[in-house]
Amino acid sequence: MSRLLTSAHMGNLELRNRVVMAPMCMYSCLGQDGIVDSFHQVHYGSRAQGGVGLVICEATGVSPEGRISKECAGLWEDSHIEPYGRVVETIHRGGAKAAIQLNHAGRKSRATSRPLGPSPEAFNAQYPQPEKLSPKEIDRIAKDFGAAAGRAVNAGFDAIEIHGAHGYLISSFLSPLTNHRPDEYGRDRTLFLEQVLGEVRKSIPLGMPLLLRISAHDWAEGGNTPELLGAELSRGILDRYGIAAVHVSSGGVVETSLQPYPGYQIPLAHELKSILSLPIIGGGLIDSPEMAESILQDRRADFIFLARALLRDPYWVLRAAHQLKFDIPWPTQYERGRF
Ligand SMILES: Cc1cc2nc3c(=O)[nH]c(=O)nc-3n(C[C@H](O)[C@H](O)[C@H](O)COP(=O)(O)O)c2cc1C
Repeated sequence: MSRLLTSAHMGNLELRNRVVMAPMCMYSCLGQDGIVDSFHQVHYGSRAQGGVGLVICEATGVSPEGRISKECAGLWEDSHIEPYGRVVETIHRGGAKAAIQLNHAGRKSRATSRPLGPSPEAFNAQYPQPEKLSPKEIDRIAKDFGAAAGRAVNAGFDAIEIHGAHGYLISSFLSPLTNHRPDEYGRDRTLFLEQVLGEVRKSIPLGMPLLLRISAHDWAEGGNTPELLGAELSRGILDRYGIAAVHVSSGGVVETSLQPYPGYQIPLAHELKSILSLPIIGGGLIDSPEMAESILQDRRADFIFLARALLRDPYWVLRAAHQLKFDIPWPTQYERGRF
């Protein structure tokens, strides 16, 4: 029996399988206004038609300066709701559930000449020095997350993911390499995350799954490891805000020379699964259905995320079913194309 290709719950959300499309910026909002369009409908809709269980839409800015680039999607205004609603409709039409990743890019924003961070240190020489956030500005950004989450609900999304990975704002508060604040936000590196989760929870229906993506390893001396970050996150914050799954990624906080290999992040996922006792979405350079299946059978993760494999092949899931010799329903329109 395949675990990869049979249905599973993420919180109270029933997914048709355990394949998660990881969020991927498409840098394709042509008007630089954060508005998604027909490209996004086709892009996300075809991965849904191709059989993915949960589609997580790309890092979406909670404010204009919170975008990674000027071409990134946004949800900082009500005018963003309807276009995103059309994307959600295409995902649902394809039989998948739809989540959205909400983000503030912090010191790694290319959408502003005045990026913001916990401390006034640039990511590298190609980025401007960020301005250190005041507690008042931190409050405002947490509220921006809440307002964007409310808009995501109005657009019809089934779940919300908070981007706490890859050196963007939340991640740079979480890492000892980038958070050098002497105040309460430095003494408790999860405080900003906690504020964001609090604002988001207030804005979404009770029971709506809330996911958290983290960089479980900074791959640098003195940085986060699953043990260090796991200890911070296991102090009750995830339970308090009803986190339905932790999405385990790594890196992006500081420059590293890591050479990734297929499944390189799975040991991190496995370690966090035992520390946090929560459902874990694991992945990284995975393309082989056999590998994905064995990770789930061994309970090293509960869901598998795919990013680049789905850029190459929107029908990865249909092909995986053929390879694993496990029968799944095809989109009726494509029945005649069965392997
Ligand atoms: C084009 C592209 C855009 C990405 N954008 C995001 C993003 O918006 N949010 C995020 O958390 N990760 C982003 N990532 C990272 C992926 O979600 C994923 O973690 C990474 O590609 C490793 O998975 P893979 O080996 O299956 O591709 C992006 C990756 C790619 C290739």
